[in-house]
Amino acid sequence: MKRAFTAILLLALLTTGAVVAPSAASREPVRARHGIVASVSEIASKVGVDVMQRGGNAVDAAVAVALTLAVTWPSAGNIGGGGFMMIRRADGRTEVIDYRERAPLTASRDMYLNEKGEVIKNASTVGYRAVGVPGTISGLALALSRHGKLKWADVIEPARALAAEGFTLNHQTVRSIQGSRELLAKFPDSNRIYLRDGKYYEEGDTITQPDLAKTLTRLKEKGPREFYEGETARLIVDDMQRNGGLITAQDLKGYEPTIRNPLKGTYRGYELLTMPPPSSGGAALIEMLNVLEHYDLARMGWNSSAELHLLIETMRRAFADRAEFMGDTDFVKVPVAGLISKKYAAEIAKTIASDHATPSENIRAGKPVSYESTETTHFTIIDQEGNVVSNTYTLNNSFGSGVTARGTGFLLNNEMDDFTSKPGVPNAYGLLQSEANAIAPKKRPLSAMTPTIVLKDGKFVFAIGSPGGPTIINTVLQVVVNVIDYGMNIQQAIDSPRIHHQWMPDVVRWEPMGINGDTRAALMSIGQKLSDRSGFIGDAHGVMVEASTGMRLGASDPRLGGAAVGY
Ligand code: DON
Repeated sequence: MKRAFTAILLLALLTTGAVVAPSAASREPVRARHGIVASVSEIASKVGVDVMQRGGNAVDAAVAVALTLAVTWPSAGNIGGGGFMMIRRADGRTEVIDYRERAPLTASRDMYLNEKGEVIKNASTVGYRAVGVPGTISGLALALSRHGKLKWADVIEPARALAAEGFTLNHQTVRSIQGSRELLAKFPDSNRIYLRDGKYYEEGDTITQPDLAKTLTRLKEKGPREFYEGETARLIVDDMQRNGGLITAQDLKGYEPTIRNPLKGTYRGYELLTMPPPSSGGAALIEMLNVLEHYDLARMGWNSSAELHLLIETMRRAFADRAEFMGDTDFVKVPVAGLISKKYAAEIAKTIASDHATPSENIRAGKPVSYESTETTHFTIIDQEGNVVSNTYTLNNSFGSGVTARGTGFLLNNEMDDFTSKPGVPNAYGLLQSEANAIAPKKRPLSAMTPTIVLKDGKFVFAIGSPGGPTIINTVLQVVVNVIDYGMNIQQAIDSPRIHHQWMPDVVRWEPMGINGDTRAALMSIGQKLSDRSGFIGDAHGVMVEASTGMRLGASDPRLGGAAVGY
């Protein structure tokens, strides 16, 4: 009798989910005792684990993974772009290495406008003039020198070997290359390397990248400054000059990464360490979490129309602020403290109605515009000692500007499009931006990249980040809410369907099978505008520490077929 009662109780608990953690069907996170790397490329994740097994820490692994992704995930992994690396040492010290690209010295506010003052189509996205001064190599080198244990030559070797000896192309990499055929075909070296001059690669083919191997060999032998002052710099500058690009020897020589403190916020007793400007991501994330704190999400129910409505209204307001205020704080004043204050969030919460959508036009004037999907990549690493790296880096759009500088074997970014080409005119992500993000020499374009670390009582809980342009911020938001409000583990939190709203255009993006028909109808009945077609959002990779055992849990996003690998 007693046993039957226990069984019924257990069944009730499992079915209501009232006491046990909710469990949307999802594979278990990867479990490991020592360390884990979660990234979009299984080859890169394995390289990172191998580095840790050879005595390296999370930062050594991060540098090796970043360099490897430049070989195995060329749409976003890079040495010709930039990004942000958040490092939290086991003793709690945390810093961000900001290796975001900078505008060339001869860049100017209206450089993408024609004589009538109109934005020139593709000028900031395709080709040589779209390229910002790359920061990746100097950022990785700085991270290694401040926090690593291994030598530069050792962490670069796995990438060099993969470029020289080749690797097998998987489905996702082939698909990403095919998706950018038109862009890559415009530039001879890109056409030769990624499209084999029209003899397209197929899944299972081996790709070798001899030019890239040569570049990595030079960097290995001569050190990271080679990129900025040596043969690599010369190759970039020559190609820029031949093709009307702006980047000069002086630009490369003058590039320096910046060390920043993470932006801090709290959410329901957890502490967040996230990305300050020149990313808008951290401030928008904290602003949104502060608003959500006014509501009992768990009671509304995960993915209910009430909860989704609240998320949408919160996103809409935070993105309106992003458009208005954000830029590189080394150049313009951004009211970050105000945006992330609890008081400001309380005021925002008062403007949200539970029974109807607030049209974005009523929040701030603007015109609906379209968006397109593109690429960046994030990886997260934890080592045996408990050091953590959360790194997002990018060429901006998939395969960046499309340009492979002649003889270098690597792609150059089109990060200049993240600036405001003209206030009121949307960029490639449909984002409207202000004067605060206008182009100026050496300035960094505003980013949305949001590498984030979450703590409880000073102890590491999980780290997360994602690609996806503006959707990055909302992907990170939803992973944080999934863990904290709904008690999901890191894999469930990543697997769960996502939504995205960015104020303008006034439309909710949603994922295939992500919101059921009834819920969509309920949202539309209160004025939410859902996109006609669904599409995947983001590609988050995270690690978590299981409080009861100290086990490392790693999770890669199923959306692009990445892998978490542990040991
Ligand atoms: O820094 C930014 O916000 C953009 N350049 C990121 C681009 C991106 O995430 C594209 N990925 N899907």
